[in-house]
Amino acid sequence: MNIRKNIAVIGVLITFFCFYNFLIYTSKEKETPVKLSKKAIKGQKIWQDNNCWSCHQVYGLGGYLGPDLTNIYSTKDSNYIKAMLNSGIQSMPKFSFTEEDKEAIVAYLKTIDSTGYYPNYEAIIKPNGWVELKYKDEK
Ligand code: HEC
Repeated sequence: MNIRKNIAVIGVLITFFCFYNFLIYTSKEKETPVKLSKKAIKGQKIWQDNNCWSCHQVYGLGGYLGPDLTNIYSTKDSNYIKAMLNSGIQSMPKFSFTEEDKEAIVAYLKTIDSTGYYPNYEAIIKPNGWVELKYKDEK
């Protein structure tokens, strides 16, 4: 009798397990990925061909000679980015891109900017020395 009961319990568990798996593998992702426009893809290619990665990071990944550029589009603007490319500064090299190429890089950085923040928090140092992290996506 006990064995029958155990088999029934295991049967119920297996049924739930199958149902759960079915739900997990058939439900669609809610977040739709951001797609790059043709212009932004061109910008990405220029970015890669000119090794911007070797000095700059996006979402904290990349070289560390220059700053992270994840949110450069919203913290500065397209003219600032173009001016940087035109003139260079300190170890940032001067590039001689066409206006179209600069627009493409800006489009690429704009798309990256629209995908999130890096870092995703602000660190606030309190008077007692403790650090409070304020996440940017918290409402
Ligand atoms: C040899 C390393 C190096 C390469 C390669 C490089 N950069 Fe830079 N970049 C820097 C450095 C260093 C700075 C910071 C300059 C400063 O403010 O003193 C910088 C600054 C910038 C800034 C301004 C950032 C800010 O917060 O003010 C932008 C935009 C930028 N770079 C874009 C690019 C792009 C796009 C490429 C590729 C086409 C590129 N960089 C390639 C080193 C580099």
